[in-house]
Amino acid sequence: MSWNATVLTLYPEMFPGPLGVSLAGRALGEGLWALETVQIRDFATDKHRSVDDTPAGGGAGMVMRADVLAAAVDDVLQRRPEAPMLAMTPRGTTLTQTLVRDLATGPGLSVLCGRFEGIDERLFEARPIIPVSIGDYVLSGGETAAITLLDACIRLLPGVMGAPSSGEEESFEADLLEYPHYTRPYEWEGRTIPEVLRSGDHAKIAAWRKARAEADTRSRRPDLMERHGDAPRQSPSGARQENEG
Ligand code: ADE
Repeated sequence: MSWNATVLTLYPEMFPGPLGVSLAGRALGEGLWALETVQIRDFATDKHRSVDDTPAGGGAGMVMRADVLAAAVDDVLQRRPEAPMLAMTPRGTTLTQTLVRDLATGPGLSVLCGRFEGIDERLFEARPIIPVSIGDYVLSGGETAAITLLDACIRLLPGVMGAPSSGEEESFEADLLEYPHYTRPYEWEGRTIPEVLRSGDHAKIAAWRKARAEADTRSRRPDLMERHGDAPRQSPSGARQENEG
């Protein structure tokens, strides 16, 4: 049985989009995952097929109507009760690799793509929908966020990635950024590949990579490092350093 994605959107023509090429596209062709799009506008009831209205209390833009969205959501929940229903919105909790892993090991997911200024809040009170954001910036709609979420899940599905181990050492698997990578040529613009990576000493290489992962996480993502736990500092050369204040 394949992993099933159902996307509720006003722009079904945006799918599969980038998910139709490369790794995800090949997996789609092989039936490792399946995609269904649902046109939200098909659930509108008035003659103008309207899906939005002006914000209560005033303000800019338009708000997606709870009644129309609920009809679309209910249709999907009835047909796919096993799949969690997510909604892409900048007001959601931030997507993490932990959630991606959970979703990838399940039966698939349904995802509602927000547009305009937002979604009538009563929808989230009345239906089991998990609001998810892909980061602290505002996109023009939830579709590209849904594509990002789906891409992150699909690459973890069994049979999608070439080498199974490449999903285990990568960034965020231990609340750390991944170590840096190098490949031939050995010398490029006067810069050489770190000698330890050419030593063939697997224990030394593993220790160097761990130290670099921690050093880079500390400098680039102090928020992640805090979560990881402030282990004693170790430089990539192996020399221990003092923790600062
Ligand atoms: N829609 C607009 N911005 C978004 C974001 N950052 N994450 C998810 N959906 C969005």
